[in-house]
Amino acid sequence: MSDSAARTAFVTGASSGIGAATARALGARGFAVALGARRTERLEEVARDVERAGGRAFFCALDVRDADSIDAFFDAAESALGPADVVVSNAGVGFARLLGEYTAEELRTELDTNLLGPMLVARRAAPGMVERGAGELIFVSSLNAVAPRTFQAGYTASKAGLEGFVRVLQMELEGSGVRAGVVRPGPTGSEFGAGYGAERSRRILASWKHWGVMRELHWMDAERVADAIVTVATTPSGMHLDVVQVVPVDTRKGPL
Ligand SMILES: NC(=O)c1ccc[n+]([C@@H]2O[C@H](COP(=O)([O-])OP(=O)(O)OC[C@H]3O[C@@H](n4cnc5c(N)ncnc54)[C@H](OP(=O)(O)O)[C@@H]3O)[C@@H](O)[C@H]2O)c1
Repeated sequence: MSDSAARTAFVTGASSGIGAATARALGARGFAVALGARRTERLEEVARDVERAGGRAFFCALDVRDADSIDAFFDAAESALGPADVVVSNAGVGFARLLGEYTAEELRTELDTNLLGPMLVARRAAPGMVERGAGELIFVSSLNAVAPRTFQAGYTASKAGLEGFVRVLQMELEGSGVRAGVVRPGPTGSEFGAGYGAERSRRILASWKHWGVMRELHWMDAERVADAIVTVATTPSGMHLDVVQVVPVDTRKGPL
């Protein structure tokens, strides 16, 4: 598929962080973008940015934990902009808890938002794409999927499950013209983890250092992850960016 023709993209979790940056970046590439999340007042602001950047925008309330909400979002977005050429499944949440500190509801929220949500979104989006013989399903995972971290049992399980699901989807979609790809960010500046608190953050970082999962000592801007998502969304035909890992540039001099 060419990256020059203006196309239509639906983005979940577009009210902040990586999703908002992705919507803006797609708008700047001339995409018509449908933005979904629960905070519609934030979506309205991002939609204005998309239009200022040169794209068309539509926004609508979306709770990816709810299949009816996903259907209503897709119905409204398709009526406004036409069917999606690209769907970015980005909405996600994470709590910082040891397993015994989680409530059952918090665990359910992580799994419903980060794993079941993207599966329901793909279930809604894929059949139309297969019928049209083209489409990009992009799933925002996390480095946690391959480098599990303490204090993130539910989050890690949800992202590892997500990558397993996408692999199955890739096989099921082979030959259909529809590509499913994972974008796997490392530490990124966003509203994610903003409520952890200083004392808990110190304890968490010490534990991650102990377990050797603190390779990246700094954050990258959400815009850099958005750049990777746009790259996947506009990949020419004949190739498949099936898993793209995005980590911050390390400016330290290594031991060599
Ligand atoms: N930041 C990082 O270091 C990092 C690293 C690796 C992966 N990621 C992944 O990147 C993705 C985006 O996170 P972010 O860093 O940009 O964090 P963020 O700023 O907190 O954004 C999360 C987005 O998800 C939306 N969301 C949460 N629950 C939702 C629900 N039930 N239905 C619909 N939307 C929902 C939020 O919108 P509302 O609250 O308005 O619904 C928000 O737009 C997530 O999948 C996250 O796991 C982040």
